Amino acid sequence: MAEEVQGQAAEESESAESSEATIAVHWREEGYYPPPPKFIGQANASDPAILDRFAEENFPECFREYAELLHWDEYWHTTLDTSNPPFWKWFVGGKLNVSYNCVDRHLAKDRNKAALIWVSEDENEADAVITYQELYRRVNEFAAVLRDLGVQAGDRVTLHMPMVPELPVTMLACARLGVVHSQVFAGFSGGACGGRIADSGSKILITMDGYYRSGDLLDHKVKADEAVEAARKEGQEVDKVLVWRRFPGQYSAKTPMVEGRDVFVDELLAGHRGAVVEPVSMPAEAPLFLMYTSGTTGRPKGCQHSTGGYLSYVAGTSRFYQDIHPDDTYWCMADIGWITGHSYIVYGPLALGTTTVLYEGTPNYPDAGRPWRIAERLGVNIFHTSPTAIRMLRKVGPDEPAKYDFHFKCMTTVGEPIEPEVYRWYYKYVGKGEAIITDTWWQTETGGFIGTGLPALFAMKPGSCGPAALGIYLDILDENGESIPKGSGKAGNIVSRAPWPGIFQTIWGQPDRFVSTYFAKYNKDPKSTDWHDWPYFAGDGAVQAEDGYFRILGRVDDVINVAGHRLGTKELESSALSVEEVAEAAAVPVVDDVRGRVVEMYIALKPGYEASAEVEGKVTKAIETDIGKIARPKNIWIVPDMPKTRSGKIMRRVIAATSNFADVGDITTLANPEVVEKIKEQVQSAKRAKGEQPRELSETEEQEIKAFGSE
Ligand code: WTA
Repeated sequence: MAEEVQGQAAEESESAESSEATIAVHWREEGYYPPPPKFIGQANASDPAILDRFAEENFPECFREYAELLHWDEYWHTTLDTSNPPFWKWFVGGKLNVSYNCVDRHLAKDRNKAALIWVSEDENEADAVITYQELYRRVNEFAAVLRDLGVQAGDRVTLHMPMVPELPVTMLACARLGVVHSQVFAGFSGGACGGRIADSGSKILITMDGYYRSGDLLDHKVKADEAVEAARKEGQEVDKVLVWRRFPGQYSAKTPMVEGRDVFVDELLAGHRGAVVEPVSMPAEAPLFLMYTSGTTGRPKGCQHSTGGYLSYVAGTSRFYQDIHPDDTYWCMADIGWITGHSYIVYGPLALGTTTVLYEGTPNYPDAGRPWRIAERLGVNIFHTSPTAIRMLRKVGPDEPAKYDFHFKCMTTVGEPIEPEVYRWYYKYVGKGEAIITDTWWQTETGGFIGTGLPALFAMKPGSCGPAALGIYLDILDENGESIPKGSGKAGNIVSRAPWPGIFQTIWGQPDRFVSTYFAKYNKDPKSTDWHDWPYFAGDGAVQAEDGYFRILGRVDDVINVAGHRLGTKELESSALSVEEVAEAAAVPVVDDVRGRVVEMYIALKPGYEASAEVEGKVTKAIETDIGKIARPKNIWIVPDMPKTRSGKIMRRVIAATSNFADVGDITTLANPEVVEKIKEQVQSAKRAKGEQPRELSETEEQEIKAFGSE
C-alpha cells in the first residue's frame, strides 16, 4: 500500500529531480501491470473506439450495444424513460424472455456444448455436465411443474438453495414464466429466509434436502421448517415447499416432510417428462428477481432487478470486462446466493452462450489445492473470485497453484478492496504472470460492474478498481455535493451521475426508502425529470487518482463487509437484543487478515444480570439463528456501559477503534468519556491474553474504523 501511494505521489509531481524521477519510473512500473499482447490480441474490447461509442454525448443510446447482444421478441421504442424519477425505465416497449436468451437461442449452434459444469464438493462424485440441450429440458420440465402449481408471471417465489445445478435450473424456470425469484444464500438461517419470504410475499419456498459443506452432508431441509414458521409470524403463509433432493430418490435430511405442504421435486418432475413450456414474452421493465441486501436499518432491502435492462447489462459487462467468448470455460467461485452469482455465474455467462462452472463446496476442501485441481481438470481459462478467498488460499497454500497445470487468460476480483500485497500473489501465483486481473467495484443494487477498467485497454493498478465502466459516469462528491477533483488526494462519496441499464428498479415494497437511501442526498429538485439532477449515492467512500482510477475506501454507512458480504449492524444488534439479559448491543467491524472484516459485539446487560459465558453463548446463538453462521461474532464483550453521545447514541467509532487497537479519536463530546478507558483496558487486555496482537492498520482501514457509525 505504502509503495502504491508513493508511486501515485511520484506520478503526480512533474518537476522531480532526475534521481527521484528514476525512482518514480521504477515505482510506476511496479504500480501498473500492462495487459500482455496475447491477451489484447484476442480481447472482445481491444479497440479504443469503444470508449468513444460509450462517451457521455452518446448516452443513453450507447447501451443499445449491450441490448443488441440479446434476442428481443419486440424491439423497444424508448431507450431510457426518465418520466418518473428516479424510477428509471430502460428499453421501454421492448419484450423478451430471459430463459429463451440464456438457453433456447443457443440450441441451434451449441446444442451439445456444456452450459453448466457442476463440481461436487466430494471429489469422488462425478461432475454433472449439462449441455444447452439438457438445460433446456430441465428448465422446461421444472417450469411445467411451477405452472401446474398455479404460479404466474409477477408472482414471487423464494429459493433457499445451495450451489447445485438445480439452482440455475430453478431460476431459469421462473424466468421462463416471468415469475420473480428471490434466492436467499443457503448459508443464511431459516429465520433470515423466513423474513425474506414474508417481505416478498412468497407462497412457495424451493429448497434442497442437503448439500456438502467442508465434508459434511448438511441437513438443509430443517431450515425450510424454520423459514415457514418465521414467515408465518410475520403474517405470510407458505403453501408449498418444493424439496429438490441432492441424490434424487433418496432423502438426505433427517427432518420429516410435512404432509400436504412439502413435496419432492423429483417426484413432481416424473409427471412432466418432455414437457415444453412456451417462454413468456416479458416487458423489458418487468422485474426478474429480488436480491436482499443489508442496509442501515434492521429490515433487509429487496433489490428489484429488471428483465431487459439487467440482462443487457450483465451480458455486456461479461463480454467486455470478463472477456467471455463462447468457447471459454469460465469459473466464478462465488455463490449464486449473492448478486455476483446471479450476474456472473448464471445470467451473464449463459446469455453469452459460454460454459460456466459451478462448485458446490468450500474452496479449501479437502485441501488448498482444490480450486487449482478443478481449474486444471476442466481447462478453466477465466477465473473470478473475491479478495477473501484469495487471502485464504494464499494463507493456507501459497505454493499450491504452481503444482497444477492451469492457465488463466483473465481473472476477476470483487466484493471489497484487494490489498496490493494480496493482489501481487494473485497475479504471480494464480495468474502465473500471464493473466490480467480485473478489479470490479459494484453492488447488489448496481446489478453489474460499474467501476472497472477494460482489461485490454487499461493497465491494472493493485488496490484500485480502475476507471468508470463503459457508459458509467462516476464522480466523487463532498458533503455539499461539490465534485472533488481527481488527483487532489481528498476522499468523498462516490456517485454515478447517470443511470445505467443494470441499476435496480426499487426496493421491493419500499419505494420511499429507495429514493431516500440512494438519491435524496444529492438530488436538488425532486420534481426534475432530468437524470442529471439525480446522482446515485452508492454509500462508499472513494478517492480518484490523477490517472482517473478510483480507489474504494469502504462503506460510509454502518454496514460491515464480512468476506465480501454486507451485514447490517442494526440486524446484528436487534438479534443480540432478542436475548433476555441484553439491554444494549453494538456491532463493530474488526480488521481480519482473511475475511477482510469480522464482527465484534459489545453488550450491556439489564440490571440484575451478571456477565457470563452463557450470555455470550446466547448472543452468538441468536445471531446464528437470525442471520447465519457468516455473521458469527469473533468476540462478544460484555461491558459495564457503552460510550454514548449526550443524546444517548452509542458511539460505534469509539468501540470500533478499541477493538482494532486504533486511536479512539476525539471523545470530548461523549456524555460518559470515563467509560472509554475502562472498556479499552478490558477489551484490549483480554485480546492480548487470547494472543490477538495489535495489528498496524492500512490508511484505508484506519479511515473506515475511525468513521464507523459516522457519529
Ligand atoms: C464493496 C458485491 C472495493 C463496496 C458485488 C460495495 C468493493 C459493497 C468492491 C457491495 C471492489 C464491492 N473494491 N470495494 N472491487 N466490490 N465492494 O452488495 O463497499 O454484496 O458497496 O455487492 O462491497 O457489496 P454487495
